[in-house]
Amino acid sequence: MSASVTVRAAAKINLRLHVGPVRNGYHDLVTVFHAVGLFDEVTVAPADRLRVELDAGPGIAADTVPLGADNLAAKAVHALAAVLGERPTVRIHIAKSIPVAGGLAGGSADAAAALLACNHLWGAPLSRDRLLEIAASLGSDVPFSLTGQTAVGEGRGEILTPVPVSGQYHWLLACTTTGLSTPTVFAELDRIRGEHAVREGSVREMLDALAAGDVTAVAKLLVNDLQEPALALRPELKRTLDCGLEGGALGGVLSGSGPTCVFLVRDRAHATELGATLMAAGACTSAVYAAGPADGASVVTAAGGSR
Ligand code: C5P
Repeated sequence: MSASVTVRAAAKINLRLHVGPVRNGYHDLVTVFHAVGLFDEVTVAPADRLRVELDAGPGIAADTVPLGADNLAAKAVHALAAVLGERPTVRIHIAKSIPVAGGLAGGSADAAAALLACNHLWGAPLSRDRLLEIAASLGSDVPFSLTGQTAVGEGRGEILTPVPVSGQYHWLLACTTTGLSTPTVFAELDRIRGEHAVREGSVREMLDALAAGDVTAVAKLLVNDLQEPALALRPELKRTLDCGLEGGALGGVLSGSGPTCVFLVRDRAHATELGATLMAAGACTSAVYAAGPADGASVVTAAGGSR
């Protein structure tokens, strides 16, 4: 068995995000998740006690990631250890590139990576389906962080149906160092909607556009019900979106509960150009290129050893 295992897991964006009524504290969702090539790497190794270490990448403030029991990767290790009857005594090293509280499922990526890494470390006893069940108990986006690619998410986001996609999509992620709290954004949506009936949302046209590889149609169909409440809480995001669209993006939308805004562009060079425009305008604190779809959590290295 391995003495250390490294798993990488991708950021996600939402190509459509329709928010329905609340059930048991969570909103019913219909969303199209799309994993993009911006990765956190999580390494687990046996240790005398569970501890979390962080290697914060560019633009990530180390003090925004909890290193105690609140850390989602630590919660994942506890949950898996409880199911397997293992002691959760591992060192979790997180090399973080996905912005924190950015609407990109960075914490969920770390949880998915830690689950897969510990399952490997402990002899891979659980099937993918069992890992998906534990993932769902940890957070709405954690199952998708395991599976990656592009998928429709229903329920609170954990019921996944893979989506066939033609071609590659190029994204510019306009990031902001100060995160937005997901529950606060959902609560603001409820406040804005008040007594109004919940809008129905369809993902059909988006699925057709993705299957056809029709980039222009995908760009036109980007929708996120959380954009309005996020803009109400953070009005300056309107300028970020306007700046990206006026700067030549094919389409743009808030990712998840924000504050990251994502822009669909033609290719990497177009992303570089648009990133420079956004940075020069002070419309974001960092601009990151990523292509999708990307793989779900996957083992990068399993270094030797036995237990
Ligand atoms: O599942 P997760 O822990 O990521 O969710 C964080 C919070 O976001 C929830 O406690 C809830 O307030 C809100 N949420 C929601 N409906 C969802 C997903 C999340 O209201 N489908």
